Amino acid sequence: MSEPADRRYGPAPLPRPRGPISAAVLGALRRPPHDLPPDLGVDLDPADPITDEDLQLTLFLCYELHYRGWRGVDEAWEWQPTMLALRAHAERPFEAALRRLVGSPLVPAAGVAAGLAELVAADDGPPLAATLQRRADLTQFREFVTHRSVYHLREADPHSWALPRLGGPAKAALVEIQTDEYGNGRLDRMHAELFRCTLQRLGLDTTYGAHLDEVPAVTLATNNLMSLFGLHRRLRGALLGHLAAFEMTSSLPNRRYGNGLRRLGFDEVATRFYDEHVEADAVHEQIAAHDLCGGLARVEPALAPDVLFGAAAGLAVDRLFAGHLLDRWAAGRSSLRSPAPPPLPPTVSLAVAASAAVAPPARPVVV
Ligand SMILES: [Fe+2]
Ligand SMILES: [Fe+2]
Repeated sequence: MSEPADRRYGPAPLPRPRGPISAAVLGALRRPPHDLPPDLGVDLDPADPITDEDLQLTLFLCYELHYRGWRGVDEAWEWQPTMLALRAHAERPFEAALRRLVGSPLVPAAGVAAGLAELVAADDGPPLAATLQRRADLTQFREFVTHRSVYHLREADPHSWALPRLGGPAKAALVEIQTDEYGNGRLDRMHAELFRCTLQRLGLDTTYGAHLDEVPAVTLATNNLMSLFGLHRRLRGALLGHLAAFEMTSSLPNRRYGNGLRRLGFDEVATRFYDEHVEADAVHEQIAAHDLCGGLARVEPALAPDVLFGAAAGLAVDRLFAGHLLDRWAAGRSSLRSPAPPPLPPTVSLAVAASAAVAPPARPVVV
């Protein structure tokens, strides 16, 4: 295995275990590829798979082998048959829980774009974005960014799994969206890099996967469902539906996140990630609903219910995520698993961040 000279982009450092199955997987990954015990995970059936720490970390450990991999772990684990079998054992209760959460299959009566619009209109999740805009303190904002770092540092990657699985209009639409997400090929405009600037401005570790130990199962679940949809071709409709729901519910919350950071005294380098999404996602939501999901349904009409399933599942897990943060904060507690992130270093103190002495660069700083 090779170790990159620059660790910011991965592989991620191995996290700590959260139960017997994740402990067994972590123990195995530290050694050369070998067969896992045949009964490992066969009867995995936790009461609430979406918030089960051991199950969600196990899934994340398995899925990450297909993204950047794990630091110090043999890359051949990616296709080790018993690791894939364990992943299947862990996916079964997770997918079943997602389908229970969404309820009976959703059939779009007036086309997928209208069905998606209906789902989004009915989505009355906890007011996380409004809280971050108006009331959250710096510690809470840093917690929010810490949770989201798991996704944003690899922003768009899970949906890229759909590209080789599509042809025709849906593929063209997905390329159009992903091109923006990847900054039109410019490193300093890639959304993941814009988010790295936000992390840095908030005094948080910008290394890929640096915050895994801090985030709870529900945060891992928001990521694992994208990987579940992305790594199974049979779920390509759900993957596109998830992306559409994501884009259709992004523009206003991102405006609020940016305003929240400005209220806390941060500059435009810190808010650029959110500001960028206000306009970009207002465009993306149209492409995603009509060209991407509508295009898929025109070519493969049988996938229309899957599109709505993926959208509804994404919205539902996001509601659980938002509820977790707000409930913890209302109780005066941290939403993270470990103690709050370390204090701000002097270079990013509020006074400095708000000071005119810090002239924002014309373009995002790639750190
Ligand atoms: Fe983005
Ligand atoms: Fe977008």
